[in-house]
Amino acid sequence: MRKPVFFTLTLALLFTVVFARADEGMWLPSLIGQGRIQDMRSKGFRLTAQDLYAVNQASLKDAIVRFGSGCTGELISDQGLLITNHHCGYGQIQQHSSVEHDYLTHGFAAMNRSEELPNPGLVVSFLVEMRDVTDQVLKGITPSTNETERMRIIDANIKTVVKKATKGNHYHASVEALYYGNQYFLFVYEVFEDVRLVFAPPSAVGKFGGDTDNWMWPRHTGDFSIFRVYAGKDNKPAPYSPDNVPYVPKKSFTISLKGIREGNFTFVYGFPGRTYQYLHSEAVRYTQEMGDPHKVKLRTLRLDIMNRAQAADPAVRIQYAAKNANVSNAWKKWQGEMKGLKRLGTVAKKQAFERRFEAWAADKPEYAGVTTRLAALYDSLEPYALARDYHTEAVLAIELLKFAGQFADARDLEPETIDRLRVAAEKFYKDYVPAIDRETAQALLAEYVRNIPERFRPAGIDVEAVFDSTLFADSVQVGRLLASGDTTAIRGAIDRDAAVRAYRAFMKAYKTAIEPEYTALNKRIDRLYRTYVRGRMEMQRGEREFYPDANSTLRIAYGRVEGYRPADAVVYEPVSTLEGVMQKDNPAIYDYDVPERLRQLYEAKDYGRWAVNGTVPVAFIATNHTTGGNSGSPVLNGRGELIGVNFDRCWEGTMSDLEYDPVACRNIALDIRYALFLIDRVGGAGYLLDEMKFAE
Ligand code: ARG
Ligand code: ASP
Repeated sequence: MRKPVFFTLTLALLFTVVFARADEGMWLPSLIGQGRIQDMRSKGFRLTAQDLYAVNQASLKDAIVRFGSGCTGELISDQGLLITNHHCGYGQIQQHSSVEHDYLTHGFAAMNRSEELPNPGLVVSFLVEMRDVTDQVLKGITPSTNETERMRIIDANIKTVVKKATKGNHYHASVEALYYGNQYFLFVYEVFEDVRLVFAPPSAVGKFGGDTDNWMWPRHTGDFSIFRVYAGKDNKPAPYSPDNVPYVPKKSFTISLKGIREGNFTFVYGFPGRTYQYLHSEAVRYTQEMGDPHKVKLRTLRLDIMNRAQAADPAVRIQYAAKNANVSNAWKKWQGEMKGLKRLGTVAKKQAFERRFEAWAADKPEYAGVTTRLAALYDSLEPYALARDYHTEAVLAIELLKFAGQFADARDLEPETIDRLRVAAEKFYKDYVPAIDRETAQALLAEYVRNIPERFRPAGIDVEAVFDSTLFADSVQVGRLLASGDTTAIRGAIDRDAAVRAYRAFMKAYKTAIEPEYTALNKRIDRLYRTYVRGRMEMQRGEREFYPDANSTLRIAYGRVEGYRPADAVVYEPVSTLEGVMQKDNPAIYDYDVPERLRQLYEAKDYGRWAVNGTVPVAFIATNHTTGGNSGSPVLNGRGELIGVNFDRCWEGTMSDLEYDPVACRNIALDIRYALFLIDRVGGAGYLLDEMKFAE
């Protein structure tokens, strides 16, 4: 009798230890094992591992795509209908917009298939299969193989694996390193390139709250847009053609209309971009004390200048809208990240862990001293890392230099190249205000000179002189030059130009004084991480389960709908509603100017079937561990039904790429019912609902 009791107790204990790190983790769907499934089931999951991921039968993974290169999307009908964020489709919506058809401002709804708008360059990728190929990738490597040789063997082996995986089919494949090269996985994708815009709400809904509300809760943004995936008649990927037909996916999501409540189980299934959970304390310290503060300061300078110019001129406000949003997004996140790391004491915690690691490793020559060697390398890296940060955030943030760089770097002046440059020029000048750029350049380069030692930078760059004499400040001159077709004249003008010369001088300094050493040190650092992370996994076996850092591959995160306490005496509830939209409504503030149609519906409380307790749910937060790239990801209930579309994280949890804190880290999702309400009642496109499946 005694033995089994003891046995059960130890098992239970083991479970609580391994799964104690509540809600942290981005798990590889193909590796989700019984232990993990049991933990998920105990929290409200109702499906099996095969429902999530299977190769020989349809599973939920077949309804999810990487949308473009930086977002996620999911299929919501068996006719290729797909939902993602408004901010993920923003580029496409903008591309189709003109003064006569301003879809950014007014929204867009295709009234039938022929009105759906094609988007050259936009692709969506379905994961066909993922597989551990570590043995094949490391074949031929022995303990005595040196690092250069190792890289060569790995590259060659990866080529073989990819070739084999794509032989005789139309798939795309890549091999990705996990755990800093301790493991390698093959990912096979089916990539569709005819993806058409179907529906977008007005920006006043899709971007409601703008950069003011970005990274924050309570949130009231209707951040979604709808596309349709098209295929050839054989249901396989095909380049755009009017003859293509809606793609019939292996799987599409059922949409839950049952609603959510605090405590409900949820999971997020998507393509998170990058996380850095295993970073050394010194790297975190750099981020918190150097990288983030310097980058924030540089972006503050840019934003101040942009904001002032945009406030003074409505045309400039539109021209710089997307740029401003871009600059502002990371600027704001870095500030939250710094605060969060400081509050959590991540550096000190990591230092304590590293001491523990070294104590454990003391009698293991393979691991002993790894963390101190990492510390020393980070010390050497610091000046190069800072110089590199300034190169990207100060030098290449000067629009003129970056643009002139496209000409400077053009390898030839063949007609196609000239054409490409002409298209680039058109795009550039449409939204370019030289006065903003000149003032920005002055401010950024002053900081650059103040913070970066002479040995890293070119001598004698005079911003005023560059802007005064360059031909790239003038669209007419550039247009005339490109139209001339005289390649000798074009080459000569490029080579003589002051902005091109400045760009080349900066690039030369970067390529000779910064990059080589930066790369060499990082190679040594990466190699130590390989050892360090392997050691950690050995040391903490049974204490915790490991997950590989996000690397834009498909992952599952799970948690529950839950509010939090952002500050003393403040409690955040997990669900927002239309009441909050209207509380923020203010026609005088651009970010909060609710569209008239929505205002009217609110006045009349005319919500039809979408009314819930006299209002309409808008967004909710949950404890799922997510990052950039998870935007647009399906947020699912325990039955795998769609309850929301992920689009952001909360301010107090923005350090989650480095340390996940269950107390403050929340993902923000659009409640799918708000999207349906907007499509139906505001967008007048209720017919789209006819092809969706609902669980009531
Ligand atoms: N913070 C979200 C993400 O990282 C949304 C960004 C888009 N919205 C904006 N106002 N810039 O992508
Ligand atoms: N907004 C992010 C995205 O676009 C998501 C996040 O960083 O939480 O992917």
